[in-house]
Amino acid sequence: MSDVIIKVDNVQVSFWQNNVGVYSIKDLITHRKSPFKNKVILDNISVEVRKGESLGILGRNGCGKSTLLRAIAGIIKPSKGKITVNGTFAPILAIGAGLELELTGYENISLLLALYGTARKNTNAVENIKEFSELSDEVLKMPVKQYSSGMVARLAFSISLANDSDILIIDEVLAVGDQGFQAKCLEKIYKIKSEGKTILFVSHFPDDVARICNKAILLEQGKLIDSGNSSDVCNHYRQLF
Ligand SMILES: Nc1ncnc2c1ncn2[C@@H]1O[C@H](COP(=O)(O)OP(=O)(O)OP(=O)(O)O)[C@@H](O)[C@H]1O
Ligand SMILES: [Mg+2]
Repeated sequence: MSDVIIKVDNVQVSFWQNNVGVYSIKDLITHRKSPFKNKVILDNISVEVRKGESLGILGRNGCGKSTLLRAIAGIIKPSKGKITVNGTFAPILAIGAGLELELTGYENISLLLALYGTARKNTNAVENIKEFSELSDEVLKMPVKQYSSGMVARLAFSISLANDSDILIIDEVLAVGDQGFQAKCLEKIYKIKSEGKTILFVSHFPDDVARICNKAILLEQGKLIDSGNSSDVCNHYRQLF
């Protein structure tokens, strides 16, 4: 169908994990058993998102939500299956991912705007980011490694808003922002939704997911255990605890 903007088809993602610690060259030469195991993080995931839809992604810590977003954003490659995306997005995912911690707020803004090509199209982009984030000039001149997690979330979300993309990816931005910023983000998300943009929304707050998203999926240990109408899936999520 032409209005399908994201198609995730039977996707599997696996990572090499080491739960032993250091594995040295000596270990390799003496044929000590490798501690690396190939662990399946996402298994057989299929989901379609149509233009203008908002998809909520729910599940416990470590179930694979951010990994699914990274795969959709093309940051990691599925080991099996196929992902097709017919739109643009700003790949600022989890809190701070995509930001260079050694650089200042301003330097990160310039870098990411240049990367997305936004600076050429929108000359007010830096001012808009500053205004939405409510971060002071003094804070924006500091390296991001000195920011609190709320400040990082403010910067990351404001930069992703400045990029006028078809798909907005939101991973837990509301979790660390203070009440004022949460309310402001929700208002902005509703506005973006009303403009017909597509939203992928990861959150641990089912009430927000039910309000923002028309449909949702529920992951459990890398498997898709429910999908459909967001209020039904949110009820299922609440029953997990
Ligand atoms: N680069 C990596 N290498 C190895 N394992 C990884 C890597 N990234 C994630 N994982 C593992 O993948 C699993 C899913 O992680 P992910 O970050 O997708 O979870 P999540 O659902 O977003 O959790 P949370 O709610 O805590 O944000 C976890 O077990 C994690 O340890
Ligand atoms: Mg996550």
